Parts: sequence; C-alpha cells; structure tokens
Amino acid sequence: MRLAGENFIDACYGRNEGRIPLWIMRQAGRYLPEYQEIRKKVSFRDLCRSPQLIAEVVRQPIERFGFDAAILFSDILIILEPMGMMVDFEHGAPQIEKPIKEPEDVHRLKDIDIEGDLSFVLDGIREIKKKLPESPLIGFVGSPFTLACYLIEGRSGKGFEAARRFIHEHPKAAEELFDLLTSICTRFLQAQIDAGADAVQVFDSWGGTMSRDDYLDWSVRPINRLFNSLKFNDVPRILYINNVAPYLDVVADIDCEVIGVDHRIDISKVLREVPKKSVQGNLDPSVLFGDCKHVAAKAQEILESVSDHSRLIFNLGQGIQPQTPLKSVQALVETVHNYRP
Ligand code: CP3
Repeated sequence: MRLAGENFIDACYGRNEGRIPLWIMRQAGRYLPEYQEIRKKVSFRDLCRSPQLIAEVVRQPIERFGFDAAILFSDILIILEPMGMMVDFEHGAPQIEKPIKEPEDVHRLKDIDIEGDLSFVLDGIREIKKKLPESPLIGFVGSPFTLACYLIEGRSGKGFEAARRFIHEHPKAAEELFDLLTSICTRFLQAQIDAGADAVQVFDSWGGTMSRDDYLDWSVRPINRLFNSLKFNDVPRILYINNVAPYLDVVADIDCEVIGVDHRIDISKVLREVPKKSVQGNLDPSVLFGDCKHVAAKAQEILESVSDHSRLIFNLGQGIQPQTPLKSVQALVETVHNYRP
C-alpha cells in the first residue's frame, strides 16, 4: 500500500507515476469556516504559538479536501519578534512597529536561539506529525530578501521601493542584514527538518520586484547559500517565486529540487525550460471565484498543457483568497485527482 503522501515526495524528485499531487498555498486559513471558528477565540499571534492549535488548523484542510501535503501553520514574519521587531497581525495586513531606516537599526537586531525562541513552531511540527503521520509536511521560511522587504518597508507595499533603495544606499548594512537573515533562516529550516518536516519551502514573494543584477545578488545568492546548507538532509527543497517570468533562466540553476511559480507564466514552458527540476503551480487563485465547471475547465487546461507529469505538483499561483467558495476548492481537488496523464 502506498501512503497518501508518497506521490508528493515522488513528484518533488521528478519520479511520480501516480496521480498528480495537489496542495494549495494558504490552505489553512480564513476561507475555511472551521478556521474562522478558532480565530474567533484566539488571535493570530496566539494561534501561531500554540502547538495544539497549529496541528488542529493544519489538519482542517487535509480532512476536508484530502490535499496531498500539509503545510506548517505559521508565518514568514514569525522570526521577527525574537529578532526584536514587533509585528502587528491584528489589523489586516501585518505591520512592523519600528521598521529599519538606518544602518544602526540593523545593528540593533538580535540573533535568535531557534530551539528556545521558536520552540512553539518546532513543537507544532511534532504535534502535526502525531496527528497526520501519513501527510508529508512542508516547513517554510521567507527568503532573506522578502523578509528584508517587511523589515525595511514595515508592511506590504507594491514595489518595496524602500527595501530596494536601502540596498543601494547602505550596501554594507544590507550585507550584514542579509547575512543574519540567511543564517537564521538556514538554522530555522534545519530545526524544522529535525523536528519532522518532510519538505521545505522558501517563499521568495518579492524577489521578482528587483532588476536582474539585484535579483542575482540579493535574492539568488542568499537562497543558494541557504539551500546549499540543507542539501544533505534528503528532504526536497522548494523555492516559490512570485513573478518568475523574467528570471526563469536564473531559477533553472538554483540549488533546489522544486520551483513554485505564479500564475503569470505558462507552466508547460517552465517544465520545458527548467528540465532538471520539478514544478509547482500555478492556477490563478481568482479562477476559484468562477463556477465549478469553469474551475474544472481551467485546471484541466493546465493539466493538459503539460507533457511531463512526473514532475508536476499542482498548486495555485499565489495564496488562496479569504472569500473563496469551498465548492470551487472541491471541484479543483476532484479535477486534479481524477486526471490521468
Ligand atoms: O496554509 C498556509 O499556507 C500556511 C501558513 C502561512 C501563513 N502565511 C499564514 C497566515 C504561510 C505559508 C504564510 C506565508 C506568508 N506570510 C507569505 C509568503 C507567501 C505569499 O503570500 O507570498 C507572506 C508574504 C506572509 C506575510 C503575511 N502574513 C501577510 C502579507 C499576511 C496578511 C495577508 C493575509 O492573507 O491576510 C499575513 C497574515 C497571515 N498569515 C494569515 C494567515 C492564515 C491571516 C491571519 C488571520 O487573520 O487569520
């Protein structure tokens, strides 16, 4: 008997011969009524700090939809508080209280003791593995550049101009900041693997806002260092990049097993042009607001456009939106799971 999650791990290594594995970014979250029930009682910050509740919300979408992988419930910004930066999650999009403005602000950041400061995440992973022993669990961090965007900008922005400016205005402080973030992210992912994560994903949500040279220096270089340190774990390494299209050739050379791509690119092109990696993506999350037939047709289009299904992991091109109809998600899961290459 094959375990439920074997197709996912096999697909990460480009050797899946079974049905196409599927999970969706932000699969635990506000589109689920059972998640909203829990959130009525606890804040997002407290939820992220309770190993029991973490395991519970990770289980919810798996139980409802039968996704082929689970993802740790936490946030890429969870490392900021122990670094000495307070984050407010309670008023919509997260906000950093006192963002970095000057090089001195970088010097004030603290290195963190992963096992001590983030024990609730690692205990959460152990709890998930107890509750969902058959689901492969994806651990994650934000990429150093994406984290720097929030640290410097203070909040989500369109182009993260302040972060891109800081790199050029204060290159030495930026270098120190990126070294610290890379070190923390590397140790954090290693600790997640040691606690039981079966795969790891780096979210480079905002690297695609940079010019090509800066993308190479400030996104790719730290990510390669990070992935390189993790390569002996026998755990697939996934890199998600938003707006991958201009940098597909660069991404093909990054040291990892899987590339997760946004919905602005043709996934069959990615599979062709990145022949040595598996590819994860990339249905536009807004498609899920159409009726079920439409959702099924759009998912089918992606499935049929691909010629090598052994290295495909189906996902959305970005996180699922809060008001997404549940029946659309159901239609998506059925379409992908019923598809035979
Ligand atoms: O199910 C999962 O995907 C696992 C949990 C997860 C969260 N955030 C939970 C969350 C993951 C993997 C993330 C990653 C994350 N967080 C990213 C990278 C992915 C991407 O979207 O590009 C980024 C940029 C963040 C930062 C962040 N955290 C933002 C921009 C927001 C607000 C936007 C939103 O969706 O409200 C958050 C808050 C957040 N992170 C929520 C959840 C479930 C909403 C909290 C709530 O109100 O319940």
